[in-house]
Amino acid sequence: MLSEQLDQLVEDALGSFKAATNSKSLYDAKVKYLGKSGKFTEILKGLGKLSKEERPAAGKLVNEKKKELEEAYSQILSNLETAELNKKIEGDFFNFSFPGSSEAQIGSRHPIGLVIEEMISILSRLGFAVRTGPHIESDEKNFSKLNFPKDHPARDMQDTFYIGKDHVLRTHTSPIQIRTMETEPPPLRILAPGSVFRCDSDISHSPNFYQVEGLYVDKKVSMAHLKGIIGFFVREFFGEKTKTRFRPSYFPFTEPSAEVDCTCPICKGKGCRTCSNSGWIEIGGCGLVHPNVLSSCGLDTDKWQGLAFGFGVERMAMIKFGISDIRLFNENLVNFSNQFNGAL
Ligand code: PHE
Repeated sequence: MLSEQLDQLVEDALGSFKAATNSKSLYDAKVKYLGKSGKFTEILKGLGKLSKEERPAAGKLVNEKKKELEEAYSQILSNLETAELNKKIEGDFFNFSFPGSSEAQIGSRHPIGLVIEEMISILSRLGFAVRTGPHIESDEKNFSKLNFPKDHPARDMQDTFYIGKDHVLRTHTSPIQIRTMETEPPPLRILAPGSVFRCDSDISHSPNFYQVEGLYVDKKVSMAHLKGIIGFFVREFFGEKTKTRFRPSYFPFTEPSAEVDCTCPICKGKGCRTCSNSGWIEIGGCGLVHPNVLSSCGLDTDKWQGLAFGFGVERMAMIKFGISDIRLFNENLVNFSNQFNGAL
């Protein structure tokens, strides 16, 4: 009957599986019994001839036997493969002690990481401590609470990567100002390093670049503090003789606002290609925190004042190390990174 027929089949199949001497002949045996036109399929097809009552039990039995055989096949295959591998390794064809064809390349720190670390180390001496935030930011924290009017051009689709209606890939590190002021009581002195995103790409713009942001909130904060902090930072980072200047500018979240230039560290202010012969190079933006920003975070503007600044890290690294193309930072070239080993 069916069960005897099946037992016989399983016995035959197991016999030929066990007789296989390599994975190829095992596979051939599997096809003969378990394949599409194999013996099991033949039996399964034959079940159609049984009566309606007999069919379910018979089908179940066939499938059980088939499964049993499949499991045996996997086990035998794995044994065979292990044996084949051991044979390969044992043979003289693979010598583990043979020296490699080239020396292993040792990786190194990325210049962006080194520059961020150096910036933090300098500013932490003035009491600034690091805070971070997420790359995907709400429109509210990236724009609204930073006093960007609803129709401000910086919200334009060309600059901003929108994620749905209410979220963006943060376009700057300034939302970390909001996150901090909303959760920590003043006075505050924080630094926010991190990756930012803008839809822009050429020799000096990358769609994903880094900024280091500073925020200082206290009872009396003035432009004099801002000049003092930035002047100190620039001298420490680029060298004692480097000068800074502020050019009036506009950011919705600071008032007054300024762009920060320093004397070109490459030509020392004489004029060269890097500074377009002007002797000065722009390194970031800054200003006194707009009262609307303070109050959007619940701070009393009669009591608290703030200053903020933001530097572009790639720009700092390009000037510091004389790198001419921003895209080099993202190409993952060990030879590129290796040049900055121990440079800072
Ligand atoms: N968030 C500004 C930018 O990305 C830089 C900035 C930071 C300006 C802090 C002023 C104060 O362009």
